[in-house]
Amino acid sequence: MKPIHVGLIGAGTVGGGTATVLKRNAAEISRRAGREIRLFMAADRDLVRAREVCGDDVLLVDDAFAVATHPEVDIVVELIGGDTVAKEVVLKAIEHGKHVVTANKKLLAIHGNEIFAKAQEKGVTVAFEAAVAGGIPIIKALREGLSANHIEWIAGIINGTSNFILTEMREQGSDFADVLKEAQRLGYAEADPTFDVEGHDAGHKLTIMAALAFGIPMQFDKCYLEGISRLDGRDIKYAEELGYRVKLLGLTRRTDKGVELRVHPTLIPEGRLIANVNGVMNAVLVKGDAVGPTLYYGAGAGALPTASAVVADIVDVTRLATADPEHRVPHLAFQPDQLQDLTILPI
Ligand code: NDP
Ligand code: HSE
Repeated sequence: MKPIHVGLIGAGTVGGGTATVLKRNAAEISRRAGREIRLFMAADRDLVRAREVCGDDVLLVDDAFAVATHPEVDIVVELIGGDTVAKEVVLKAIEHGKHVVTANKKLLAIHGNEIFAKAQEKGVTVAFEAAVAGGIPIIKALREGLSANHIEWIAGIINGTSNFILTEMREQGSDFADVLKEAQRLGYAEADPTFDVEGHDAGHKLTIMAALAFGIPMQFDKCYLEGISRLDGRDIKYAEELGYRVKLLGLTRRTDKGVELRVHPTLIPEGRLIANVNGVMNAVLVKGDAVGPTLYYGAGAGALPTASAVVADIVDVTRLATADPEHRVPHLAFQPDQLQDLTILPI
């Protein structure tokens, strides 16, 4: 069978990690997918960086749209971030019949309804495991592992940068601005780190999980957002003296009146598991009516953990693309035309 051709757009932190994992674990990945997966083409504004990351045997370009429209590319992997060029490039790829893998939570939380509707119309898949909680397979858990359940609520530490900052402030007494710089150096933070520290990034991820769990459209504009930028060392110290840890939580809950969607710093008793999730690690609690509470834990950001999720999506999409179209299982837990328009409760 002909290899499946991957076209990578963006050779930065996650793009670099993705190229590394695709090469390092090539044989195992292709075996699991049931077909050879080949990194065929890559785009980045900086071709030197792209060559360093992808090597010489990959077709390199500086134009993202050249990847999205190349006739030999089967799966487009969008890793440039933002919701301007990224939106255009993803829609262009879908229009050209390509499957898409993306780690871009902002793009999906804001334009996901349009993107998924377009993908459904064109019969292609948009996969997004890496968009929520980095390397933790939480999308797969919500879409597949918990598919028997009526999901009641989700609560999680879903921004690695904020959790890293809060941990370093508590454990080392470090200064907020210094730790944020370190998170940027380590590749955890968004291009604009305000998204991390003001709760927007967690809100994007929560919006996506709520859509999957409750079958509602993406409604990021209704999410209550409060980040960690107004906390200082004293808040964290006083909380500790009282037996609590401060964590930035994303919370979504289904009630009779509608769905709650909120992100804010929260005091958690220090004995709870989630209070002891430190550094860049994330943790997501999901309560289903049949299974009860479940907990998912792992690295929430960084090149290789995020690449783990991106490549898992590439494997999944390869299996789907290879299956007889008549027998394909829908990738989403919901179909965009069957979404319920549940009210989002005001805070
Ligand atoms: P980076 O900034 O490290 O990488 C993005 C790369 O894309 C850069 O090399 C950038 O070049 C290039 N680029 C940007 N715009 C274009 C364009 N129009 N054409 C060609 N190349 C372009 O970002 P990350 O890898 O950190 O993040 C990528 C995506 O993954 C984002 O959506 C992010 O939210 C998401 N994500 C990131 C995680 C992480 O841990 N970093 C974890 C989970 C998701 P230049 O630098 O010159 O702009
Ligand atoms: N900036 C994000 C974070 C990257 O710190 O969690 C992972 O989505």
